[in-house]
Amino acid sequence: MTPPKIVAIDGPAASGKSSTASRVAMALGLAHIDSGSLYRAVTWIAIESQLDLPAAIVAAARARRITLDRVGAELLVHAGGKPIDEVIRGADVTAHVSAVSAMPLVRNWVNDVLRGAVAKSGGAVVDGRDIGTVVFPGARLKVFLTASPATRAKRRLQQREGEVDSEVLASEASLLEERDRRDSSRAVAPLRPSADAVVLDTTTMTLAEQVAQILALARERGLSEG
Ligand code: CDP
Ligand code: CDP
Repeated sequence: MTPPKIVAIDGPAASGKSSTASRVAMALGLAHIDSGSLYRAVTWIAIESQLDLPAAIVAAARARRITLDRVGAELLVHAGGKPIDEVIRGADVTAHVSAVSAMPLVRNWVNDVLRGAVAKSGGAVVDGRDIGTVVFPGARLKVFLTASPATRAKRRLQQREGEVDSEVLASEASLLEERDRRDSSRAVAPLRPSADAVVLDTTTMTLAEQVAQILALARERGLSEG
């Protein structure tokens, strides 16, 4: 039996993981999963229901039926069958998501959902923080995307509203760096490149260039045939 085609794309906040993974998935005819969307969904529920304890948070995620459902090539996060991809991107969720993601029970639940979804799809391009190190250590291709904090902050602001002034840019960069620091220093599944990952610094690259580089690597690994 051929192993499922899995591409892992990890990296810090706003390094371009989801945009890149989505395009790579489309080109390879695979599904795309943004694993951060599950951590955001669980955090959104924890905030709404005012829950702090990991077991209560996971129970609420189950009760609210958080699932990944296919919409075109994307596996998007839903609660009780309704799309929640927009509401989970708010500042409040962003401020709390690193703390909720540091809970091992939450991580186990998310990993089960991810592994189930990938098994059902027969492969996928999955982006996150620990996809190559923990969730799919056997992935056929692992990429770790980086970019300077200022570049990442600028990309995130442009993605949101277009206008970027220097004060807003500095505060966004410090928020991103703080989240990266928490994600990198937690005890379980910290943000770091897998030893066998290809590290791509995209600071001076366009989105099209980074997609093209990853597709070239995918071809080398036999991911684009058939
Ligand atoms: O898109 P952005 O880079 O802002 O973040 P995200 O991918 O939506 O992930 C939100 C948060 O979820 C991260 O800051 C991590 O705390 C957590 N996360 C994680 O711990 N492990 C993953 N595989 C993916 C996300
Ligand atoms: O998933 P992650 O938080 O790592 O980043 P994203 O939401 O995919 O990307 C943040 C923004 O950077 C998106 O609007 C991308 O189009 C943009 N971007 C990029 O990813 N790579 C470049 N070389 C230039 C812009």
